[in-house]
Amino acid sequence: MTSPREIPWTDLRAGARAASERSYAPYSRVHVGACGLTEDGRVVAGSNIENASYGLTLCAECSLVSDLVRTGGGRLVALSVVAGDGEPLAPCGRCRQLLYEHGGRDLLVDGGEGAPTRALGDLLPDAFGPEDVAGRSSR
Ligand code: THU
Repeated sequence: MTSPREIPWTDLRAGARAASERSYAPYSRVHVGACGLTEDGRVVAGSNIENASYGLTLCAECSLVSDLVRTGGGRLVALSVVAGDGEPLAPCGRCRQLLYEHGGRDLLVDGGEGAPTRALGDLLPDAFGPEDVAGRSSR
């Protein structure tokens, strides 16, 4: 459950915009940045990293999850993802699953100006997560 705290959306979006400027996207030229807040108050970020073998591209959220784990892990409580135009972008399906692992259904996702902030549980309903692995294992 997300604690009732004030989410610094302006800072998270600014962090995502800064991260988008560090993106490596020579193929699509869609420069994506992501910035998130952890339960213990850390700020983590990531940028997309493309590859000549297109399918190996790492999304910005993927890089953010790497930053999260590298800097001590813990739970993500809020996240902003923007494209190079500085405006929020909805995480792709694969990234919703990656984020679910580290933030669960209560993770708040920036919806953009005039759009509602959405919980990851609404973006990825009926998600398969760590609890399902534990509960369905035969061993
Ligand atoms: N991209 C992200 O970084 N995150 C998403 O959630 C959607 C897509 C990147 C991948 C690729 O480098 C570029 O955007 C165009 O698809």
